[in-house]
Amino acid sequence: MKKERNHFASKVGLIAATVGSAVGLGNVWRFPAETQANGGAAFLLVYIACVFILGVPVMVTEMAIGRAGGSDAVGAFKNLGAKRGWWAVGGLAILASYLILCFYMVVAGWTFEYFWQSMSGTLYAPVPGAESLNGQFAARMKEFITQGWNPLLNTYIMIGVTLTVLIVGVQKGIERVSNVLMPILFLILVVFCGVSMTLPGAEEGMEFFLKPDFSKINGGVILNALGQAFFSLSLGMGIIITYSSYYPKDTKLTRTAITVSSLDLLVALLMGFIIFPAVMSFGLQGEGLEGPTLVFVTLPEVFAQMPGTAVWSALFFLLLLVAALTSCISIAEVTVAFFQDRLKLSRRWASCLVMLPLLIFSTLCSLSQGVLSDFKILGLNIFDLLDTVATNIMLPLGSIFLCVYMGWFAPKGLFRNELSNNGTVKLRIYRAVYFIVRWIAPILIAMVLVSSFIK
Ligand code: PFF
Repeated sequence: MKKERNHFASKVGLIAATVGSAVGLGNVWRFPAETQANGGAAFLLVYIACVFILGVPVMVTEMAIGRAGGSDAVGAFKNLGAKRGWWAVGGLAILASYLILCFYMVVAGWTFEYFWQSMSGTLYAPVPGAESLNGQFAARMKEFITQGWNPLLNTYIMIGVTLTVLIVGVQKGIERVSNVLMPILFLILVVFCGVSMTLPGAEEGMEFFLKPDFSKINGGVILNALGQAFFSLSLGMGIIITYSSYYPKDTKLTRTAITVSSLDLLVALLMGFIIFPAVMSFGLQGEGLEGPTLVFVTLPEVFAQMPGTAVWSALFFLLLLVAALTSCISIAEVTVAFFQDRLKLSRRWASCLVMLPLLIFSTLCSLSQGVLSDFKILGLNIFDLLDTVATNIMLPLGSIFLCVYMGWFAPKGLFRNELSNNGTVKLRIYRAVYFIVRWIAPILIAMVLVSSFIK
């Protein structure tokens, strides 16, 4: 007899797990950096439009494929009877997610180290020779990530934690961990928001984030907002397909996609309310808000100047750690589900099989920041190469193919049946969603893809 597929035990649990997958480093550091680089509030408006007009339909598409297919990203296509190699789209998504996992784990390891260093106080000990706070934290970051063994150790710890959660299983591992960690994440965010918005001079930051200058909106800004929305919502990499294969049949997909996207957007907004007032209040806006520099250099500078430095710093890196961990779990689950379903392995063996090559590849990514930094392919070190290929090329490609499949090749009635739970849920925005999936999303995402080549 066919074994029944694992399911999330509760509605709250499945939302927590899916939000946990979406909320990650993309919200905490990529979103503020993109907002800053693309003109502040104007970018925010375009971003919100992208999340709801394009993100939600594509998320619903993945959910429909995942739940109807009831399997991993490749198996889902096979179970839907997809012909002519459509399963390869699932394969592409799995490969993309695996490549992303290799460098995501490394950064997750860095956040773990910074959490510990905040607790122990070493992060704020003076660095000999550093003339400013900025110089101090920049030197500390450089020393840490290029060191070799220490970042490796942290990466392995994160791999170990992720592996453990995955082995424990969908309900007892992924769902339970998300149920505990997500409320903690939101709580810390709200506390930080309160603190940041009451800093002296916070209004300037709020104005930058909330008062749009429409002249800043152009084609490039729109494409960047779209790219950020897809990255942040974890689309095109098989995560949503895999997680929704664990959704019960009565889950309302459109409502779930809107809830998940709104919560992911809320986290990005809260991050904006935290970062911009804090950075402007301490006059640090010129010191780099891009990715690692923002969280590992500029924000420690802010904490160092606040009373209760260690507490705020530890709390912030705990937030980052939680966001990174729940995303790592979901990214890894894509391949675990693939091995489990395709090779008929137990969860334990499937998880181990995922982790072994991961140890090697994330070691290479970590070392590419230090001893292997001169080893370059196409002018990029291993870390940046994986990041560029997976995020800029494979993710948009994956989303395009998913939309084209659902819009043009999927079995007739599949989308409608999934969104209406076989006619039991009233469809309100189905026509618009279908039109977007068929026409608008593939064309716009293709433009994002092309624009990343031009850049
Ligand atoms: N959505 C998560 C984040 O924003 O960090 C996880 C993730 C998705 C990471 C897609 C990377 C990625 F390309």
